[in-house]
Amino acid sequence: MNICLELAMKGRGKTSPNPLVGCVVLDKNGEIISTGYHAKYGDNHAERDALLKLNIGDAKGGTLYVNLEPCSHFGKTPPCTDLIIEHGLKTVVIGMCDPNPKVDGVSKLRVAGIEVIEGVMENECRKLNEVFVINQKERRTFVAIKTATTLDGKIATSNGSSKWITSAPARNEVKIIREKYDAILTSSVTVNSDNPTMLHAKKVILDRNLTTDLSSKIYEQGDIFVFHSEKLTPKRDKDNVTYIKTPVLDGGLDIEFILKELYKLGIMSVLVESGGRLNGAFLPYTDKIYNFIAPKIVGDNSAKSSFDYREVFDISEAEEFELSDVVKFLPDILLILHRK
Ligand SMILES: NC(=O)c1ccc[n+]([C@@H]2O[C@H](COP(=O)([O-])OP(=O)(O)OC[C@H]3O[C@@H](n4cnc5c(N)ncnc54)[C@H](OP(=O)(O)O)[C@@H]3O)[C@@H](O)[C@H]2O)c1
Repeated sequence: MNICLELAMKGRGKTSPNPLVGCVVLDKNGEIISTGYHAKYGDNHAERDALLKLNIGDAKGGTLYVNLEPCSHFGKTPPCTDLIIEHGLKTVVIGMCDPNPKVDGVSKLRVAGIEVIEGVMENECRKLNEVFVINQKERRTFVAIKTATTLDGKIATSNGSSKWITSAPARNEVKIIREKYDAILTSSVTVNSDNPTMLHAKKVILDRNLTTDLSSKIYEQGDIFVFHSEKLTPKRDKDNVTYIKTPVLDGGLDIEFILKELYKLGIMSVLVESGGRLNGAFLPYTDKIYNFIAPKIVGDNSAKSSFDYREVFDISEAEEFELSDVVKFLPDILLILHRK
């Protein structure tokens, strides 16, 4: 199953809205005879990729490992269960059941007389496909926030100076994290104050009053979706920019509306990279936080905080998250947190 997970990760950033899946086939003597993975959306599923490298009979009486329940319905490709049955596998070992209600591969395999073992390394398998699980179960976009702070939780000084809080290794990791998400999202304020490049195929900018300059670096590449007040009609044109009229609630763009639009656009996961106010607005909808921390202290209460969106008088009102991982990118660290 570890090999399946490693293979599955090769498809990272390319399979959405499909999951990440890897597969290992053993012959009846327990020798690995084939491996496969889902390389990109529209390509063969991992089981099909592995089995099509074999002749019928090679895997007879053998075992197939896969991190997600094999599909049993016709989608872009025929059901993987049919191919598994055709190859005469004796046992199928599955990491996790498919949250897609259309899939009932386990029953189909058992009816065909194949032994099915479920839930092997289930936590690791669920973690790998956390976006797919949320998409399937809740029919919504997975939301993550990335923030880079000092030890005292600051993301910029009071006048907006922020380059650079973290070191090159941490900033390089941010580029790797971005690749895992269908889109990255930021604010007009961050675009106007930092002029970030933020390389990505899909970028979302929240710009209520259309104040960002189309010559800003962020507009140089990628498909850009600009959410702005429904009261305005954009007078500027650029091939890679789509404007989306958005209702305004309490002076800010309506975040629930934006998330629904992103889902409709096929953006299954989004990484929010903005300042404290927008991070705060997204917090109620956030599944995961990446918090890089540099061993530095600003020491100024008026400096900007990573979350700054309300007044709180009792510490029990603090939002709680669960620590999933701590990774060193020396001299900085990265905390990965999930909603409790
Ligand atoms: N260290 C880091 O990880 C990091 C990352 C990004 C940014 N930053 C820093 O963060 C600073 C900006 O932080 P900030 O708190 O002033 O601004 P911000 O959180 O980046 O953006 C706030 C702006 O977002 C827009 N917005 C639209 N809808 C909103 C809603 N529902 N709720 C809240 N905002 C909404 C508003 O601008 P409109 O009215 O124009 O739409 C609002 O002024 C910059 O100095 C930048 O350097 C740091």
